[in-house]
Amino acid sequence: MTEHDNISKRDIVLELKDLHKSFGDNHVLNGFNMQLFQGENLVIMGKSGSGKSVMIKCLVGLMEADSGTISLMHNDITKLDQEALDILRADIGFLFQGSALYDSMTVRENLEFPLRRHTKKFGEHIDTEIMVIEALENVGLASAIDLMPSELSGGMKRRVALARTLILQPKIILYDEPTSGLDPITAKEIIILMQDIQKKYGTSSLIITHDVDCARVISDRMILLIDGIDYAVGTYAELSASTDPKIKAFFKH
Ligand SMILES: Nc1ncnc2c1ncn2[C@@H]1O[C@H](COP(=O)(O)OP(=O)(O)OP(=O)(O)O)[C@@H](O)[C@H]1O
Ligand SMILES: [Mg+2]
Repeated sequence: MTEHDNISKRDIVLELKDLHKSFGDNHVLNGFNMQLFQGENLVIMGKSGSGKSVMIKCLVGLMEADSGTISLMHNDITKLDQEALDILRADIGFLFQGSALYDSMTVRENLEFPLRRHTKKFGEHIDTEIMVIEALENVGLASAIDLMPSELSGGMKRRVALARTLILQPKIILYDEPTSGLDPITAKEIIILMQDIQKKYGTSSLIITHDVDCARVISDRMILLIDGIDYAVGTYAELSASTDPKIKAFFKH
């Protein structure tokens, strides 16, 4: 039995079916499908402008899809009321493209911010200090707790953003281009960190990237988003051996 077979027997934590999204005549998603299995690292690759960020924004509710279904832990999110949705959303962490830290807040305040927004998940009487320190230790940056974002390097910012995502103890993490804009060594460090986090917490991850090295190292399975659909689905080994020119184009260096 292959690794692929093993994974597909696991529970589905997140599923997109027949997702459509257009902006006027610009038909970005034309029936995109995706299944994320418990504990897997699923990489989505697509050219710049192919709709990766649009897809992830529909997933987290920052954008509304034109049609299609989005299920989270087997709940169709379009059918949930706001309160049920908020509870489910607290289980999803989103690492934005770029780091998107609040520039006027210290690292500590950046990490406290999501905790205050999700008091339902943790209760009112949490020890934010302990949680902030633990989250920063997870990314090797406990010493940066009182710095401002402007005092951090690009790699450190990405780590703090990751800590801010982790502090909510998400079951699913969505990464939008986690290594973009970083030098290859720092990118590798971030990938190792993502792997460590996955091992430690057993999270399921959806990783959007056009970094082929990142995809090779981290993916259990991959989906190629081409022409607005899930054009190809498989392991890195399977897809990189394809003779389809559209697929081959992704793996040429
Ligand atoms: N809010 C918006 N209004 C109109 N068009 C949009 C909007 N957001 C995205 N688009 C369009 O949707 C298409 C897909 O954009 P998207 O940001 O998802 O690309 P991407 O695959 O994430 O690219 P990149 O790899 O550069 O991040 C683009 O043509 C873009 O112009
Ligand atoms: Mg994008």
